Amino acid sequence: MILLSGIQPTGRLHIGNYLGAIQNWPEFQKKYTSLFCIVDYHAITVYQDPKRLKQNIYEAAALLFAAGIDQKKSIVFVQSHISAHTELAWILNCIMPMGWLERMTQFKDKSQKQGKERVGVGLFDYPALMASDILLYNVDVVPVGEDQKQHVELTRDIAGRFNKLYGKTFKLPKAIIPETGARIMGLDDPDKKMSKSEKTYGHAIYLLDSPDDIRKKIMSATTDSLRSIRFDKKRPGIYNLLTLYERFSGDSRKDIEKRFQGKGYAKFKQELADIIIEGLRPLQNKYKELTANKNDIDTLIRQGADKARPMAEKTLRLVKTKMGLL
Ligand code: TYM
Repeated sequence: MILLSGIQPTGRLHIGNYLGAIQNWPEFQKKYTSLFCIVDYHAITVYQDPKRLKQNIYEAAALLFAAGIDQKKSIVFVQSHISAHTELAWILNCIMPMGWLERMTQFKDKSQKQGKERVGVGLFDYPALMASDILLYNVDVVPVGEDQKQHVELTRDIAGRFNKLYGKTFKLPKAIIPETGARIMGLDDPDKKMSKSEKTYGHAIYLLDSPDDIRKKIMSATTDSLRSIRFDKKRPGIYNLLTLYERFSGDSRKDIEKRFQGKGYAKFKQELADIIIEGLRPLQNKYKELTANKNDIDTLIRQGADKARPMAEKTLRLVKTKMGLL
C-alpha cells in the first residue's frame, strides 16, 4: 500500500500542522510505502519572498526529519524537483470542469479574503496540482487534516473521470483523517482554523516557538466565562485547548476531565503549556542538530527526488500513451 502527503513551505509550521499531519507520519512509514512532499509550487500560488521561500523549504524538510521521518524508510522530496507534477497537472486541467474547482471551500475562503481581481489563476487551479501529486504515485491513502478532505475527494473524482475517458489508469485514493486534532483552531479566535496566513501573535503556536512564547500564547488563549473544564463542542475555546491537552498528553478525555474537575482555567492552562513545551522539546532539539549543516538537508531532499522521479515518470508515460500522445 502506498501513502503520500504534502505540506506547503509557506511559513513557520504550527501545532495544527503537527497534530493534523506531521506527528502522525512517522508511524505510517512503518506500515506503508510512504512519500512526503514539500509542495513549493503550491506555496507560490500566493506571493512568496524568494529568500524566505528558500529558507522555509529547508525548514519544512528539517522539521519532517526532526519529527521522525526517516529518509531510509520513506521518500521526502520537493515538488518542483520533479517536473512530472506540473505536467500531469496540465493534463488534469484539460478534463477538470471549472465548476468542480469553484466548489472548493478553501478557494472560496482565500479568494474572498484577497478579492477576485487579485487572486492568481494558480490558487484556483491548486487542487489539480494536488491531484497530480497524489495520482502520480498510485497512492492508496492520503493522511491529511480536515481542511484537505475536499481536495482528496476531488482527486478521486478526477481520477474516476480520467479512467472513464481513457480506460483504467489511476487508483482512487482515500483520505485518512486523525480522530482528534484534525482541525485545530486559532488560540485567539477558536471559530477560525489555525492557519499560517494569520499573523496575530497569539493565533498559533509554531513548532520552533520558545517555551516563553508557548506559555504566553496559551495563557492568553480565548476561553469563555463558564468554569467547568469539559470536552464540549459548543464551547470552542476550551474544547480546542482540551484537544491540545489530549493529543500532547496521550491521556483519555475522561481522565483529563477528572483531573481538572473543580480546578480553574489558569491552572489548566499552566499545565497545558508545560506539556506542549515538553512535547515539542525533542523535536526542537533534533531540529537544531539537523540544521547545524544545511548541506545535509540538501543532500537528503535530492536523494528523495531521485527515488520519487522514476515512479512519477512511469505514471506520466502511461497517461500520455493512454491519451494518444507520442
Ligand atoms: P497545508 O500545508 O496547508 O497543511 C499541511 C497539513 O496540515 C494540516 N493542517 C491542519 N490540521 C489540523 N488543524 C489545523 N489547523 C491545520 N492546518 C493545516 C492540513 O490538513 C495538511 O494535512 N494542499 C495541502 C498540501 C498538499 C497535499 C498534497 C496534501 C499538496 N499536495 C497531496 C496531501 C496530498 C496543503 O496546503 O496543506
